[in-house]
Amino acid sequence: MTANQATLPERAIPLGDAKRSKIELEPLAGALGASVFGVDVSGPLADSLRADLYGAFLDYQVLFVKNARPLSPIQHRDFAGLFGEIDDEPFTFPFKTPTVDGHPEILMNVKEAADRSLNVGGFWHADVTYRARPHKAAILYAKEAPAFGGDTMFANQYLAYEALSPGLRALLDGLKAEHASSMPYGGESARFASVSRNAAPRPEDRKFAASRYERAAEVSVIANDHPVVRTHPETGRRCLYVNRGFTARFTDMTAAESLPLLEFLWEHASRPEFTCRYKWAQNDIAIWDNRCTQHHALDDYNQLRRMRRVQIGGRPLIRAMAA
Ligand code: SIN
Repeated sequence: MTANQATLPERAIPLGDAKRSKIELEPLAGALGASVFGVDVSGPLADSLRADLYGAFLDYQVLFVKNARPLSPIQHRDFAGLFGEIDDEPFTFPFKTPTVDGHPEILMNVKEAADRSLNVGGFWHADVTYRARPHKAAILYAKEAPAFGGDTMFANQYLAYEALSPGLRALLDGLKAEHASSMPYGGESARFASVSRNAAPRPEDRKFAASRYERAAEVSVIANDHPVVRTHPETGRRCLYVNRGFTARFTDMTAAESLPLLEFLWEHASRPEFTCRYKWAQNDIAIWDNRCTQHHALDDYNQLRRMRRVQIGGRPLIRAMAA
């Protein structure tokens, strides 16, 4: 064991050797993401396969299981459970997504053809970072995928951190930031990603957005502080942890003081060379590590897209950092 390995916390699941794994992996881009072939996730997985899959999840940060059989809600839940404890706390406004009947843990993320209302996740973000315990991971299943469009993009936040200058890294290492469910600086396209971008906005679309702003005022805001640079609890690597969707300001600074640097970091975090882009097919499953990635659901299509997602709970970051 090397000195570096000795300092790493224990992994949730013993690490398989993803690089020599029995599972067939095909990297999707230079930065992150791999497609997984030949794994039937609809039933129990052997321990070694499970370990290989988990190792690949940590290495590639987002996996896409290809050619999967249709998954029932129970199969989806059971597969997701391999990655940790399932979190069934609903999203807050404006992302009140419905759930599968009898399965409060499975959110339905559906966009009908020509739906101009809600495109959940249509902006760069990590999930629910406004919570004290943001999700560890999400397992998204494509029940129905559009023939084209509706891709999801992912960005590697280890690379985003590592590509910064030593001077900026040293500054950020000591900072915390507040994340808020009100999404104060995401702008309309973040807050109401919601309004379809596949046609020029109509006057009624603007009205729709405005009506959502009005409702936002009635909803209590959840806000929590997190380190601006977090250490991944399983890989021990450091990554950038601010996102345009939810980060509001640096702790103990005003919004006006925070915004210029946050704006730089948000743009930097999604530089094309840190990303991969996934085109969905029916029954595909994505598993992303919400601790070291951001994602963005593109709203460029006019067809039905029906997704189901299960979330894996995380742990408090501030305490995790101190531990
Ligand atoms: C999300 O969870 O942010 C949406 C992902 C997607 O539907 O592609």
